[in-house]
Amino acid sequence: MTTLCLDPYRVPWPEDYPPAEDLLRAAEEARAFAYAPYSRFSVGAALLVEGRPGYVMGCNVENASYGLSLCAERIAAGNLAASGGGRPLAVAIAGAEGEPCLPCGACRQFLAEFNPSMLVVLREGAGTAVLSLAALFPAPFLLERELRS
Ligand code: THU
Repeated sequence: MTTLCLDPYRVPWPEDYPPAEDLLRAAEEARAFAYAPYSRFSVGAALLVEGRPGYVMGCNVENASYGLSLCAERIAAGNLAASGGGRPLAVAIAGAEGEPCLPCGACRQFLAEFNPSMLVVLREGAGTAVLSLAALFPAPFLLERELRS
């Protein structure tokens, strides 16, 4: 398997944020709740939200009609809206142990809706990789921008 180079997407983790490792651990905990009987690939996600204590979690939820399956990041974003909303500063995503699990294209768009410049935290060996959503997904569709132009 070829290893993906994440370097073009890396950014520093702000010193005034709670540790990226804690956010990623929350995503790894959420992963335990994944409902993935079809792919058997469990994913967890956790959002760090501005001015809000704790983390907002999600896990993937699959369906017998495969195309209806929902990714962990979108469940987390839905949980954020359903629990009062707020601006997510960072999302952590946990897939296979020790491996970075990049958000799919649909999730990049979905997350950008709530903050196009949020940070993305992934597992990288025993440590974390901190990436920029704006670098991973530079030109999201944002209705406010379309309406302005
Ligand atoms: N999956 C996620 O939850 N997040 C992603 O960003 C990529 C894929 C899920 C969807 C499906 O349940 C399983 O992983 C295999 O594709």
